[in-house]
Amino acid sequence: MVLPITAAASSPSLPALPSAVLAQPRGLDPRLPRLTAVTASPLRLSPYPLSYTLRWPWYFHRPSIRNHTDLVALPRRVERAGVPAQRKLRLCAVGDIMVIQRDRVPRLDPALVSLLSSADLIVGTCEAAIARPDCDPAASYQFVFNMPAGFLRGILEQSGAPPERWVLSVANNHAGDCGPDGLASTVRYLRSLGVHPTGARIEGQPPFTVIEREGVRIGIAAWTQWFNLPEPRAWQHSEISSLPWRDLRAADRLDCLVGSSHWEYEWQHFPRAESRALARQLGNAGFDLIIGSHPHVLQPLEWIDRTLCAYSLGNFCSGIGPAWPARMCNVLSVELGTEGPDRGKVVGYEVHLFVQVDDGERVSLVPLDAAPEPLRTKIADRAAIVLPP
Ligand SMILES: [Fe+2]
Repeated sequence: MVLPITAAASSPSLPALPSAVLAQPRGLDPRLPRLTAVTASPLRLSPYPLSYTLRWPWYFHRPSIRNHTDLVALPRRVERAGVPAQRKLRLCAVGDIMVIQRDRVPRLDPALVSLLSSADLIVGTCEAAIARPDCDPAASYQFVFNMPAGFLRGILEQSGAPPERWVLSVANNHAGDCGPDGLASTVRYLRSLGVHPTGARIEGQPPFTVIEREGVRIGIAAWTQWFNLPEPRAWQHSEISSLPWRDLRAADRLDCLVGSSHWEYEWQHFPRAESRALARQLGNAGFDLIIGSHPHVLQPLEWIDRTLCAYSLGNFCSGIGPAWPARMCNVLSVELGTEGPDRGKVVGYEVHLFVQVDDGERVSLVPLDAAPEPLRTKIADRAAIVLPP
């Protein structure tokens, strides 16, 4: 079924967040509602088919490197040939930001700060509702998340980039973890910081957030394939391929369309055929860049004509799980052209490999070269399979 976007965004039959509920003057901390995360059994919370749910504990400890579709992995740095000299925009994409046990705000290495603070735009995923103010040293999480505002703020402040340069997707499988008020609370809080949220269905608004840099208009859409607990006001994977993206691009005079896709099975280093087919469909529909999240481990990149798809960057600030490949926290640095036929197009990229190192007191995000052995060698070897040097 084809859903005209105006109907999808404003139809009373489709749930959306009312704009009035989200009004939040910049700089004023909203009164966070102190919502409590829902408790439920892992089996009930699993969004996957039973066949994958039963295998999930195995992969949780040993992420799979099975290349389901014989995808030929791209190198970790590419510059497109034949692009005339011009001013370029740099967009950094990072993976999932989730709460870590005991709410410890990770320390960002100066090399990571340098990369992020010099970007024109940073896109990531806020994979939890934000519905309480302060970090709690006794906090412990299993399968439901309630991120303290102080945790996210601590990461953003360290990045050295002004909040206005951050775009965070709120469309993910944990969007419903704090019940029906969690999504609105999260959007309100991001707006109070000056961060641009995307992925929430908001009354009368298109399915993307528009940012303008150097006169280049960039739309960032976000959606999720999975929900552990329902949150129908987040854009969903199942409706994304039906939206008239070319018309939407034209209506908002976009030069560049970016999709943040929360998809795939967790703990898989290579995408499924279904995800590759959707990436191709979206590339044909006018997306210039697709950034995947949710598997918690690195997946490859692929060109689809001129569309770049990074199937999963892995975690960003997230200490989830016992598996060492989940310690990778990679940054995709993308260059966008600003002139002529390359305006808004990806003209080059580089993936920078960082690692989460936990000394028991604090988690630090350090460049791969600075990670301790044997973690450094194990991660270098795994990255070489997915993303050759
Ligand atoms: Fe997820």
